[in-house]
Parts: sequence; structure tokens; C-alpha cells
Amino acid sequence: MKIPPCKPVFDKDMEKAAINALRNEFFVLGESVFKFEEEFAKYCNTDYAVAVSSGTAALHLSLIALGIKNGDKILTTPMSFIATSNAVIHANATPVFSDIDETWNIDPKKIMMKEGVKCIIPVHLYGRPCNMDEILETAEKNKIFVIEDACQAHGAEYKNRKAGSIGGIGCFSFYSTKNMTVCGDGGMVTTNDKNVAEIIRKLRDCGRKSSYEHDVIGYTARLNTVNAAIGIEQLKKLDGWIKKRRENAEFYRRLLSNIEEITLPVPEKDIKSVYHLFVIRAKRRDELKEFLKKNEIFCGIHYQIPIHLQPIYRELYKYKGGEFPESEKHAEECLSLPMFPDLKKDEIEYVCDGIKEFYG
Ligand SMILES: Cc1ncc(COP(=O)(O)O)c(C=O)c1O
Repeated sequence: MKIPPCKPVFDKDMEKAAINALRNEFFVLGESVFKFEEEFAKYCNTDYAVAVSSGTAALHLSLIALGIKNGDKILTTPMSFIATSNAVIHANATPVFSDIDETWNIDPKKIMMKEGVKCIIPVHLYGRPCNMDEILETAEKNKIFVIEDACQAHGAEYKNRKAGSIGGIGCFSFYSTKNMTVCGDGGMVTTNDKNVAEIIRKLRDCGRKSSYEHDVIGYTARLNTVNAAIGIEQLKKLDGWIKKRRENAEFYRRLLSNIEEITLPVPEKDIKSVYHLFVIRAKRRDELKEFLKKNEIFCGIHYQIPIHLQPIYRELYKYKGGEFPESEKHAEECLSLPMFPDLKKDEIEYVCDGIKEFYG
């Protein structure tokens, strides 16, 4: 039995929508882009959604739209994909980090408000929403913005509110491995702020005020029409896929609950994860990963190096290790087990049997 870590879906409906868009619409900013935005905003319960070229662009343009400038500090987690804090640097600001808690998301209690911090970017890691109440409270007290990095959390819920609708701005990625993809790169910004939506629309389209007039320095960061057309079809199936992911996660939890060497994700309270990844913490992680690989079970590591210890961050900001011990420990032990909607019960059993065999 060969089990991949994830399995993106491209079905007949998506193929048909893609061909239809290519044949009948403008390749760039065709009507599917606006339809996708409308559907996505409805799905997230926000007033606006603006489609962009990637999750990184969504974060970058959001920071610019909020007026973040040279010298500002943006607070986020070191346990995320590097793009979260790269976007901060693209916006000429400085990322500052705060460690994670037992949920593996940023620990709201550890957030220290340094001078110059203008915004917090909580990341709903692996599809699990952060503890937003405490984060919003801190932000309000300090009069700073909150941008949710919901790049892994399409459809996740925090106290019955959709990820991306809780802070002032939500940012999504539709990269190929995400819970929903546009079969290429793509992203979305969600917000209830009309002004922010309008600025991002302009920024993504070369700063265009009208056809031939540009009043800000913008970017080429649009979502292609064909990708938007696929996105519309993916969105229709998202809730069904999420349901299956949750069932798979429950089955993993049941089968793995008595293994001493393993830590499972902490139980959910007030939140509904969408299990973009099913991550465990495992003793002798690298050996276990190799053992599973020999049995054709392919796992991932998210993330092997916390952002602050990436070579370029060590160079730029002089991190040496030891600054964020919880994130560093997580990086040593985390293992992403195969997770996708179509994962079968016997495949999950096979993965769990492999883990049990490894630990004897
Ligand atoms: C948490 C997180 N933030 C940001 C990004 C950046 O998204 P993209 O790859 O679409 O630029 C990703 C995904 O790749 C991500 O997982």
C-alpha cells in the first residue's frame, strides 16, 4: 500500500470550468475572478474578498493597505511557513516573533508588546484556529491591527466564526496542497473594510486607478481567470472535503491514543479545525519518518526549521537558537501524517500499525 502525504483534486467539473473560462473569458480579470470573489466572501461571511496571485501576495498587499511602513514591527509566530514573515519583509517592515503554546499556535499569553509593533499576524496552523479572543483583546488594548493568516484554514471556525472573518483582514492561499486549490498559485484577502478591499484591488493591478492612470505603485498580483474558474468549483466541494478530513482526524486520534511516544493535537474547544495537516509530535521523529517511508507511507514535516532559525533570518536578525524554545522543540518532533479527504480507513489503519510497530 503506497500512501502519499496529500492528494489534490482535479475533477471533470473543474476541467470543464477551466476550458470554458479559457475559451470564453479574458485570461486576466475575467468574470470568473469576480464570481470567485463573491462566492468566497459569502463562504467566509465577509463583505469583501479580493483575489490575488498567492497567499504571500495576500499578506504583503494587506500590510501595505494598512499603511505599514519602513521601520514598523509585525508580530507573528516562528512556527509557520516562511512566507508569513517574508511578506512582512516585502512590506519593508520587521518581523518579530512570539513563541507557541500547546496548541502549536502563537501563545496569546506570551505576546509582549514591543514598541513599534503595528500588527499581529496569528497563523491558524494546520487548519486550527488560534485563540482569537485573547489576541483581539491584546490588539484592541494596544490599538494595533490583526491580519489572520488563514492560508491553511479555509472553512475553519472559531466560536462559530469563519477563519478570515475574525481579525480585520484574512489571508488565504490556494497553493496546490491546500484544502482547496486553484490548481496553481493563488490567494484571497477577506475583509469587511471597503477601503482595504479597494486598495488591495488597486495594488494587485499595477496601481491602476483607471485604464491608463496609476496613482499608487502597485504590483502584478492578480489571480488568473482560469484559476478562479477552478476555484469556484473547488469551493463548492470544500465542506464535503472538510467533513471527511475531520472524520479521518478522529480515526487517527482513536488509533493513536495509547502510544506513549506520541503527542496528539490538543482536543478542540470552541473551535473547529479543518485538518489541513494531521500533525503529531513523535519521539525519534526522523527515524519514525524513515521507517514509515520504507513501508511506502510518506509523511511531511511542518516545519523542520522554525522561521527565526532559517539561514537568511539568522543572517538578517542574528538569531542563534534558544530564543523560542517551544517552537524549536516542535520543529524537532512534529510529523505530518498522510491527510486528504479520500484517505481510506484501511490506509489510516496501515499508517497507525506502522507507527505501533516502530515503537514496539
Ligand atoms: C501559513 C502560510 N502562510 C502563507 C503561505 C503562503 O501562501 P502561498 O504559497 O500561496 O504564497 C502559506 C502557504 O504556502 C502558508 O501555509
